[in-house]
Amino acid sequence: MDGIRIVGGAPLSGTIRVSGAKNAALPILCATLLSDGESLVRNVPRLRDIDTAAQLLRTLGRDVHAEPPQVRVGGGAVTPEAPYELVKQMRASVLVLGPLTARYGRARVSLPGGCQIGTRPIDQHLKGLEALGARIHLESGYVVAESGRLVGAEVVFDMPTVTGTENLMMAAALARGRSTLVNCAREPEVVEVARVLNKMGARVSGAGTDVIHVDGVDELAPFDHAIISDRIEAGTYMVAAAAAGGDVRIDNVPVEDLEALIAKLRGAGVILEPDGNGVRIVRRDGLRSVDVMTSPHPGFPTDMQAQFMVLMCLAEGTSRISETVFENRFMHVPELVRMGAEIEVQGHTAFVRHVQRLDGASVMATDLRASASLVIAGLVAHGETLVRRVYHLDRGYEHMEEKLAAVGARIERVRGVSP
Ligand code: EPZ
Repeated sequence: MDGIRIVGGAPLSGTIRVSGAKNAALPILCATLLSDGESLVRNVPRLRDIDTAAQLLRTLGRDVHAEPPQVRVGGGAVTPEAPYELVKQMRASVLVLGPLTARYGRARVSLPGGCQIGTRPIDQHLKGLEALGARIHLESGYVVAESGRLVGAEVVFDMPTVTGTENLMMAAALARGRSTLVNCAREPEVVEVARVLNKMGARVSGAGTDVIHVDGVDELAPFDHAIISDRIEAGTYMVAAAAAGGDVRIDNVPVEDLEALIAKLRGAGVILEPDGNGVRIVRRDGLRSVDVMTSPHPGFPTDMQAQFMVLMCLAEGTSRISETVFENRFMHVPELVRMGAEIEVQGHTAFVRHVQRLDGASVMATDLRASASLVIAGLVAHGETLVRRVYHLDRGYEHMEEKLAAVGARIERVRGVSP
């Protein structure tokens, strides 16, 4: 198994370019199921999750040429079944449920099991599809959805759910009549899915707000679309540069989608100079502790919580970090404590006290963003850090070690590391 070895203490300088957004690419690849023709998705990152999505579409019967940054999805007779083997690798596979039900009137999709960061049920997805007229039952760990043509209806989500909103937008796009989705997620990736659906001939309005209207159409056309850049990857490198110190330019950053993070970085004393589609990060002086509470967009992204926690380990004072989106997203804490951090978790809040230094250690990645936080901790720690189980990292970061090495980090991938 691969690991990542880091020798900390090197300030960073140079330019890092951000790739396409994983959490936009995945639903958009699933949206190709809504039309028979050949669609082309551009600016797709090279990630394990993209490989899994391509495998899933092939398993469903589509002709897929996946050569990121381009993925071409052609026609093919679809067998609307998403097997456990693939869904267990990537929960986002549930995003085929809406398109398959709407387009083929039937879908059999493995229920995604539990996840490190929380139970993550899909009850809101199912409730929404039932409101549009689908008959849903569970069978041997699979969700089975059957329907004639879906019919537009009002769906009120109990909480803003990103993939729930995306699944229902895609399903409602081919329903008869109007659907009104209420209490929607407002993430930029949701807006991007709506953009692509409208390119296919759908009539989606209000994406980016908490109420989305979808006027169903009879048919959708294939599309050619270059997806937005990854705000969480950009945010991760912004925090890495702030933690390691130095002067780094991050290119291809959707600055407008990172306002909450940028405000907290500035509050901590980091200098940020957005220019054009990039941002310059300079950190020379000490850091100040700031409090953070994760919440749905445009709040502070939960996918940046673990990385930001590392920065707060180095900040004067005590920072309070509250995780409100997922119930179990502090798996990185014990690993950071092994590196000398002083973090106390009480329920959904972690109290992060300033420490003079972190020390390199052998640490274990537990989920995608936790693994990114351990790499950042390794960049600032004294001595050598070995991050194990980096298959988590490869799910969402394209060649992280190469991008960081290019700006001066002493980092390398090592093979044959025990898990
Ligand atoms: C998306 O997950 C992202 N994944 C996650 O990114 C991200 O952390 C999350 O949104 C929140 O921003 C993709 O886009 C592929 P939710 P999703 O439904 O859609 C509860 C990463 O690191 N809920 O918005 O699964 C749920 O348990 C990943 O890239 C229900 O209870 O998240 C959670 O507490 C990790 N029932 C909250 O809502 C439902 O039916 C928000 O989850 C749906 C959600």
